[in-house]
Amino acid sequence: MMQRRSFLALSGVSMLAFGAPALAQSAPNMARASSPGGMLTVEVSTDNDGRPMYAVSRLGQPVVRPSRMGFLLTDQPQIERGLRMSAGQPVTVDDTWEQPWGERQFIRNHYNEWRTTFTETGGLGRRVDVVFRLYDDGVGFRYEFPEQAALTTVRIGTELTQFNLAENGEALWCPAWEWNREEHLYRRTSIDAVGSAQTPMTVRGDSGLHVSIHEAALIDYAGMNLRREGGTDFRCALTPGLTNAAVERTAPFNTPWRTLQISDTAAGLLDSSLILNLNEPNKLGDVSWFTPMKYVGVWWEMHLELKSWGQGPKHGATTENTIRHIDFAAEHGLGGVLVEGWNKGWDGQWFGNGSDFSFTESYPDFDIERVTSYARSKGVQLIGHHETGGNAFHYDQQLEPAMALYERLGVHSVKTGYVADAGGARVAGPDGRAVMAWHESQPMAQHHLRVAEVGARHKVAINAHEPFKDTGLRRTYPNIISREGQRGMEYNAWGNPSNPPEHEANLAFTRMLAGPMDFTPGIFGMKTRSAEGVATTWAKQLALYVVIYSPIQMAADLLDNYEANPEPFQFIKDVPVDWSDSRTLDAALGDYVVVARKERTSDVWALGAITDEHPRVLSAPLGFLDAGRRYRAEIYRDGPDASYTDRRESIVIEQREVTSADVLTLALAPGGGQAIRFVPLGRSRRR
Ligand code: NOJ
Ligand code: CA
Repeated sequence: MMQRRSFLALSGVSMLAFGAPALAQSAPNMARASSPGGMLTVEVSTDNDGRPMYAVSRLGQPVVRPSRMGFLLTDQPQIERGLRMSAGQPVTVDDTWEQPWGERQFIRNHYNEWRTTFTETGGLGRRVDVVFRLYDDGVGFRYEFPEQAALTTVRIGTELTQFNLAENGEALWCPAWEWNREEHLYRRTSIDAVGSAQTPMTVRGDSGLHVSIHEAALIDYAGMNLRREGGTDFRCALTPGLTNAAVERTAPFNTPWRTLQISDTAAGLLDSSLILNLNEPNKLGDVSWFTPMKYVGVWWEMHLELKSWGQGPKHGATTENTIRHIDFAAEHGLGGVLVEGWNKGWDGQWFGNGSDFSFTESYPDFDIERVTSYARSKGVQLIGHHETGGNAFHYDQQLEPAMALYERLGVHSVKTGYVADAGGARVAGPDGRAVMAWHESQPMAQHHLRVAEVGARHKVAINAHEPFKDTGLRRTYPNIISREGQRGMEYNAWGNPSNPPEHEANLAFTRMLAGPMDFTPGIFGMKTRSAEGVATTWAKQLALYVVIYSPIQMAADLLDNYEANPEPFQFIKDVPVDWSDSRTLDAALGDYVVVARKERTSDVWALGAITDEHPRVLSAPLGFLDAGRRYRAEIYRDGPDASYTDRRESIVIEQREVTSADVLTLALAPGGGQAIRFVPLGRSRRR
């Protein structure tokens, strides 16, 4: 790691005048620091009442106007005024780290770290530090509570952090506090019409500047939502806890990072590694027991109501049906098979309840020993399933034996699920009995980390549905491989309503900025239980394997539909899931995105382009390919008559030879897309 000092600009000599009562100062204290390349500047100050504020600018243009920081505590006076500030010297860090799996292999972590300290001039004399990490493509800051006699247990009722955006513009956001947790349609409104939003919330200001607000390294804390206070001003709104404190911690501790990804292009947001970089390095060491893979599952047939999770004539998770899926995966080179409904507890009312689930006992028609040993003999991984009905309390009690069972059977990943309405999860209350909780409350943060840690001990990787939001913890715990956390493909089975054609283009700039998503693409059977069916073209279904990053990607459709359509299925078989590099070639917020990724273990590249409900003609310069090398481009594009309302199956599959000098024209149908695999031909002819 290379470290060097960088300069700090101070304005107002009073800044270091320790001992001067903040309230008596005529001019506010103020200090400033910039990112390594000088793109972003943070200014921290206290006002005449000793209230701490921060502001962010990019190349001199305000991005966040002065915004307050601080806390309301439930059993002590607030920490938000009467504070004296001192600022340290920023320290530059520039290192590069390697992901065991990921959208890129090496990630540069280049920032200036800047510590500011706020001490009460009267009262209890308490202290809180705010540490900023300034990158050229964004800022993270967190509160650090040092050990101190006057503040041991910290009970946070309200975190006062504001994000006062400097300009109006367009916002892409999902409502917070609504019944369906994280699974809502995106809203696209002016910034000053947002209500309460989940993060990531992404905006494009009138000047064209893109900003996404989220958080990183959310450990043992409540999830942050954003409440608009007026105009373009937002404030942190923590998810409620079990008491009137949203968070209860013992000092010393740090809050999660509050993050602002800032770019003059939408593509710049997508290529930022800010969230990952703000997380701690890998604590698990070698996780090579988990292999990125594609998988099929005893799954879509349940959502179409052709099969059932519970017992009876339609039971899906039988030994026989699972073996059929294992044979299919082995034949087509897919790594895994997910089986839902294998365990006891599905027959009654499990939604929002979950207390009947056993995570170690299978139904009589599912021979778990036979199925897992058959899968092993075929070189296929079984993917376990733990639906909890939101009852984390019940699941916690079986966590250890459940993970130990999977370890013994060689099952190295599990899909967990927390199906319950908002506020309907269950955790242990103060007396050890189950109480209701929000999915993103502090006890659920603790629960999800516990699942990851117990899983890691048993070499089991976690893919949570109805999860806790992603804040980049996969860097520290690389067995947190993927999650849901938005409307996935399943909504296209049920309807009411289906995902609209712009949905995936919205996901790319919001949910996907948080991390990998188990969206489960690859549906060819477009008629479902929903009136709208699947509102995309086939080519878009294929493109999603490249656009949506996840180290596990489901081939979600019925096996029959793949067997009946081998030509488009070939792309699903061929597309990589682990990458050495990823580049967004073109993007517009909520409208379209074109991504190219290079396979981790070869020189194969893949390109995915998707659009919303509008047709588009985009151009894709192939400059990412090796210069002087010829490639076979295997192209899966929308047919001329394709559309998400009609002729969704219209696809043209063709091959042509290309080089890095070529520029491809991508014609995307309404609700359409394009998927391409570039395979190097012959020997390299480097210039
Ligand atoms: C909701 C999950 O998102 C889905 O994938 C799963 O099949 C059901 N819950 C049942 O666990
Ligand atoms: Ca779900």
